[in-house]
Amino acid sequence: MLEWVTRKENLCICGPSGTGKSHFTEALGQAAIEAGMTVAWFTIEDLGALVRRHRADDSLARAMSRLIRTDLIIVDDIGLLPVSPDAAEGFYRLVDAAYERRALAVSSNLHPSGFDEIMPKTLATATVDRLLHHAHVVVTQGDSFRLNQATSGQGVIPLR
Ligand SMILES: Nc1ncnc2c1ncn2[C@@H]1O[C@H](COP(=O)(O)OP(=O)(O)OP(=O)(O)O)[C@@H](O)[C@H]1O
Ligand SMILES: [Mg+2]
Repeated sequence: MLEWVTRKENLCICGPSGTGKSHFTEALGQAAIEAGMTVAWFTIEDLGALVRRHRADDSLARAMSRLIRTDLIIVDDIGLLPVSPDAAEGFYRLVDAAYERRALAVSSNLHPSGFDEIMPKTLATATVDRLLHHAHVVVTQGDSFRLNQATSGQGVIPLR
């Protein structure tokens, strides 16, 4: 199941809210750790914070090279919130640094071809071009697990 990680390929998991994307990437991270790999987990805004932290002393390239020593890097929930310019830059820099060197898994409500809706078009094109070159794309579908549980009364313990 994790051969693609050792081959340094990517995984893009996309589909509607509540269809298990984060659940899947968490399970994947757990499986990778159990297989003795190292895993890093980010939201896209964490990447924005990383950019800001390292911009001041120009150490971003070094931080990225350090980060891509991790066997599997996961970026979860891209596209739920507006992407700040710093986060868009961080995401591009990560995808570029990891390109053909490290496995990335990203989850998003949008198919990567729609990333130009959430980040500047030229940056999105360059990012997605690298991301999808060696990528497995998994599209989740169906109803939200959350909505199904909520409407079948399993979301809460009933009040007495
Ligand atoms: N295969 C599964 N079996 C049982 N429960 C699941 C499964 N996949 C997801 N769930 C549960 O369904 C809920 C929603 O899943 P998850 O948070 O992964 O959705 P998501 O696709 O990441 O949604 P969003 O786009 O809103 O972030 C969670 O409570 C999760 O634990
Ligand atoms: Mg999610």
